[in-house]
Amino acid sequence: MASGENVDLSATRPAEYLREGLLSPEGKPREGLNGLHSLGMAHRLKLEGTKPETVAALLDSLVKASGRFIPKDPRNVDLPDGARQEVAAAWSATGPTGTGVLGELRAAVLPCVSDTATLGAMLLHVERIHRQLLLVSVTPPAAPDVRLPGREAAGRPAAGRRAGEEHRALAGRVMRPHLPAMERDRDSRHHVVIVGAGFGGLQAAKTLGRADNVRVTVVDRYNHHLFQPLLYQVATAVLNPADISAPIRSVLHARNTEVLLAEAKSVDPRRKVLIVEGGEIPYDSLVLATGATHSYFKHPEWARVAPGLKTLEDAVRIRERVLTAFEAAERESDPVRQRQWMTFVIIGAGPTGVELAGALSYMTRHGLPKDFRRIDTREARVVLLEGLPRVLSAYPEELSEAAKRDLEKLHVEVRTGALVTGIDGEGVTFGDEHIATRTVMWGAGVAASPLVRSLDVPLDRAGRVKVSPRLTAPGLDDVYVIGDVAAAEQNGKPVPGIAPAAMQMGRHVGKTIRDRLAGRPLKAFRYHDKGSFAVIGRGYAVGLLYDKWRMKGLPAWLVWAGVHIAYLIGFRNRASVMLNWGYTFFTKGGRDMRLITGNVVKRMPALASSTQAPALPPPAPPELPASRPAPVH
Ligand SMILES: Cc1cc2nc3c(=O)[nH]c(=O)nc-3n(C[C@H](O)[C@H](O)[C@H](O)COP(=O)(O)OP(=O)(O)OC[C@H]3O[C@@H](n4cnc5c(N)ncnc54)[C@H](O)[C@@H]3O)c2cc1C
Ligand SMILES: NC(=O)c1ccc[n+]([C@@H]2O[C@H](COP(=O)([O-])OP(=O)(O)OC[C@H]3O[C@@H](n4cnc5c(N)ncnc54)[C@H](O)[C@@H]3O)[C@@H](O)[C@H]2O)c1
Repeated sequence: MASGENVDLSATRPAEYLREGLLSPEGKPREGLNGLHSLGMAHRLKLEGTKPETVAALLDSLVKASGRFIPKDPRNVDLPDGARQEVAAAWSATGPTGTGVLGELRAAVLPCVSDTATLGAMLLHVERIHRQLLLVSVTPPAAPDVRLPGREAAGRPAAGRRAGEEHRALAGRVMRPHLPAMERDRDSRHHVVIVGAGFGGLQAAKTLGRADNVRVTVVDRYNHHLFQPLLYQVATAVLNPADISAPIRSVLHARNTEVLLAEAKSVDPRRKVLIVEGGEIPYDSLVLATGATHSYFKHPEWARVAPGLKTLEDAVRIRERVLTAFEAAERESDPVRQRQWMTFVIIGAGPTGVELAGALSYMTRHGLPKDFRRIDTREARVVLLEGLPRVLSAYPEELSEAAKRDLEKLHVEVRTGALVTGIDGEGVTFGDEHIATRTVMWGAGVAASPLVRSLDVPLDRAGRVKVSPRLTAPGLDDVYVIGDVAAAEQNGKPVPGIAPAAMQMGRHVGKTIRDRLAGRPLKAFRYHDKGSFAVIGRGYAVGLLYDKWRMKGLPAWLVWAGVHIAYLIGFRNRASVMLNWGYTFFTKGGRDMRLITGNVVKRMPALASSTQAPALPPPAPPELPASRPAPVH
């Protein structure tokens, strides 16, 4: 131990410390008290990167400064004037003062030091922290070694086992009941916590899965990874939710990787902990990959009437609303209200709005017509409203025009320069116009997921972190931000918020962490643009390959379909999607997943007389050549 000769630590009186709430009545350090108990401090110091030698130096310095005030016999006397200042100065002289864990301890403990007993208790506390910091950095022996008796005889040193066991016992004390597995700070591997198992997070975890000196915890609020690019096909009843999602646990198999189902609430970069519902997770490196959420700009009230499309729940909700609208129209006797039910408005003609509008219009003309008797679903209006002068404004003008033409061939009413200013349960308002509708969908804006706000670093207008070239948050070298929550730039242009960019960032961060630990030079992130595509309808898409080759129509759709099948997670999903596509292609939407899973009966209009004759001629024939989209050239 590093204490000096002048100090008799038996002079300490636990009762004095008890007064400050640091010890239990039995004289043992309490757990969780203001985070000041010695084991908790040691863990936090380790996470902070403070070395045991720093604490030893501090202890030496404090002991030297205190020595002359502490009598050799175990008497407690009041400290003379100026003694506390001298001890405080000795603390400052070693460096750790106002900041960090030692600074925090100093601020909490020094004001309590009024007599020699409390001074001794303080020294004892620092000494205990030092001892535990040495233990915290011990790598425990592998678990089976501890459990199997007989192993010691096989040559493992007993001291190592004891250290491991003692350490395990100590580590057990900081576990929080809600998160036992995650609080295992018992090994010295670098702990990487990844929040979000989307495109970026999964790639980061996979890249780190091969590193021996790292352990990884992946936190997500859902138990599945979601393939968002095909969400619109769930919303329009082409695919099942399970076709485009995969349990995260089944995707991440590396032995060094744990998965935790939890919602992250905030980050405390100073203490290096992620705060989740029910506890805290300490990290050495943190990767934030929480994606984007809807933005209703200054109209949060629109969220209730105009759902967006980001999660499986959103997709199932949209599917339910659309199918319910047709059911309601079938029951409705008033033609005006029937028209309102059969009008669908999509706000925003970015890729989400365009894909949704094309697929929805297709659905109204294929498959659905033969299911209804009183209404002709082919008469449904699908209106796409865009505030800017053209659809898909991120694409070259030529492709925007092609997309608009194709949408119109699919019977979508495209209105550009139509900035929506009002939405309620009865319809949508833009300019002087109002469209009466009961079904509105939102594809008009996204913002970064709110978790990154807790970092307290500069954000752009969409709430994304303005990351460094290495994808770290400004001023926080151990916090990486990737995917849709990162505002990265390359050659003066923003890196787009699409899946390949998130995946590349995830891989880059995984490699950066590995390089950092190996002491290798670190590289800046470079985005390789392989292309982006937006689907207009079955067999129609527009896109840019390698940021230069413009594609449209069937060739673009084929590239899009190939890439999406290739990137879907798991063989089962690929097979299922191809099967469903093939089936709906040949049967023209014959029997898509047109399920309403909630009980929507309460939302239905009063029943039209059940004895009434069908309002329409018999069901439409399965083939509707006039409404089939013409080939695109
Ligand atoms: C409808 C739609 C269609 C799209 N189509 C395409 C396309 O065709 N091609 C393309 O390249 N891109 C497409 N994109 C964009 C692409 O999906 C995103 O750019 C990509 O998903 C971003 O990846 P990410 O890892 O940043 O976030 P995400 O993939 O969104 O993953 C974020 C993860 O974080 C989790 N999470 C969020 N907050 C928390 C929290 N607080 N605690 C715990 N977990 C949390 C979420 O559950 C999720 O699993 C589409 C997006 C949408 C919405
Ligand atoms: N196929 C793909 O590659 C694909 C598909 C979907 C989404 N994404 C990505 O996801 C992100 C989000 O895409 P998105 O399409 O959801 O949003 P977006 O931001 O790309 O497009 C939103 C559109 O809504 C319009 N808008 C905004 N407010 C409006 C209002 N009040 N009235 C009318 N129009 C309004 C905007 O002008 C814009 O054109 C983007 O990064 C996109 O690249 C990609």
